Amino acid sequence: MKKTASQSKSKHKLKSRSAKKPKRISSFSARDRIIRLINSSLDIDKVLHLSMLLMEKTLNATASSILLHDPEKNELKFYLATGAKKDALKVIRMPADQGVAGRSLQTGRTLLIPEASKSPFFYKQVDEKTKFVTKNLIATPIPIRGKRIGVLEVLNKTHGTFSHQDMLKLKTMAAEISVAIDNARLYDEVKHAYIASMLNMAKAEKYRDHDTGMHIERCGEYAVRLAPELGFTPRELENLRVSMMMHDIGKVAIPDAILLKPGRLDPEEMRLMQTHTTKGEEILGRAPHLQRAVEIATGHHEKWDGSGYPRRLKARTIPLTGRLAAIIDVFDALSSKRPYKDPFPPEQVFKMLKENRGTHFDPEILDLFLSRFTEMREVYQGMA
Ligand code: C2E
Ligand code: SIN
Ligand code: SIN
Ligand code: SIN
Ligand code: FE
Repeated sequence: MKKTASQSKSKHKLKSRSAKKPKRISSFSARDRIIRLINSSLDIDKVLHLSMLLMEKTLNATASSILLHDPEKNELKFYLATGAKKDALKVIRMPADQGVAGRSLQTGRTLLIPEASKSPFFYKQVDEKTKFVTKNLIATPIPIRGKRIGVLEVLNKTHGTFSHQDMLKLKTMAAEISVAIDNARLYDEVKHAYIASMLNMAKAEKYRDHDTGMHIERCGEYAVRLAPELGFTPRELENLRVSMMMHDIGKVAIPDAILLKPGRLDPEEMRLMQTHTTKGEEILGRAPHLQRAVEIATGHHEKWDGSGYPRRLKARTIPLTGRLAAIIDVFDALSSKRPYKDPFPPEQVFKMLKENRGTHFDPEILDLFLSRFTEMREVYQGMA
């Protein structure tokens, strides 16, 4: 989605960045992952389009639109539309305080207009430009996290006009659509952050780029496998996955000389390395949909007994996601080769995790993790 100003700005920044250094993407696997992330965002439009068609069928409407609010220009613009005039609509914008759609956006109410031509609110200019004749319509706001981000409309009932029942159904559908849009925006922001970090990592040709890429993906996978037992709802899982995938994103700010050092880090290097947690917070903190990712980036090196970094948080003052990430991250790090170490065998990894129950790791989450150890190993091997 190319909606808000901050998003188009970040898009622009990335474009100029990659334009300067196009050869730096040296790994196909990194590029594949980027393409997959971009596609997962575009797929959302397909999902939305399908749900609009379904909605039209359910309500016997001949057309429908999703209008999104552009707060900077205070306009509503047609993001998706169906029906004969859909292409003409794409370029049309209307003031956010006018029309039936504008009124629905401003008041938060679902409006049923049985005769558009007689409604004082109806914004005729849209029909004039598209040559569509709106007879009747319902408009309902699309709420996301307490804000109204746009309006969903259905137009022209095939026989007669829309009913009160239809209004209620449309309201329910707007809530569902809002979840899809929210996810799309999340992916959009994640995508930008991810591309930036991938480009950065790809700079280091010797770096186990592929390995790190899979580390990122595995961490997301372990998390969504365990999360249902920790109280996460199915809707929260994708957000958790991408948030977990970015736990080390702050490492893009760590000099290669430290990041890729084959031996032990000296205390000053270690101090610098540890700033990857707070750097991650800075990078992700600007994105409004990534609060969970911020928690994980800052929380994944905290320890249950309060001896971790960067804030020396203790026990349950560490966010749940951070406590989960700590276990996942160490499990994967111990199982893998690093520039500074060889992999440990699974039995040793199991033992090392268990030895740190209640000191480094939250005992309850660790028990859950160890009870699923075989499955976690399968994830590791399946995504090696
Ligand atoms: P990482 O390699 O992803 O490791 C993440 C965490 O896994 C580490 O956090 C540590 O808790 C655990 N871990 C990794 N390898 C070992 C190991 O051999 N033994 C034990 N007991 N635990 C291990 P930590 O220590 O805060 O390190 C954070 C990051 O700093 C590491 O991420 C890595 O990028 C870097 N790092 C840490 N130690 C060294 C080192 O000696 N040399 C280099 N070049 N980098 C290091
Ligand atoms: C309006 O909201 O008043 C008109 C919108 C439309 O024609 O789709
Ligand atoms: C990331 O940028 O998300 C991970 C970097 C790393 O694991 O080194
Ligand atoms: C182990 O005890 O080291 C492994 C246990 C398991 O695979 O479930
Ligand atoms: Fe880390």
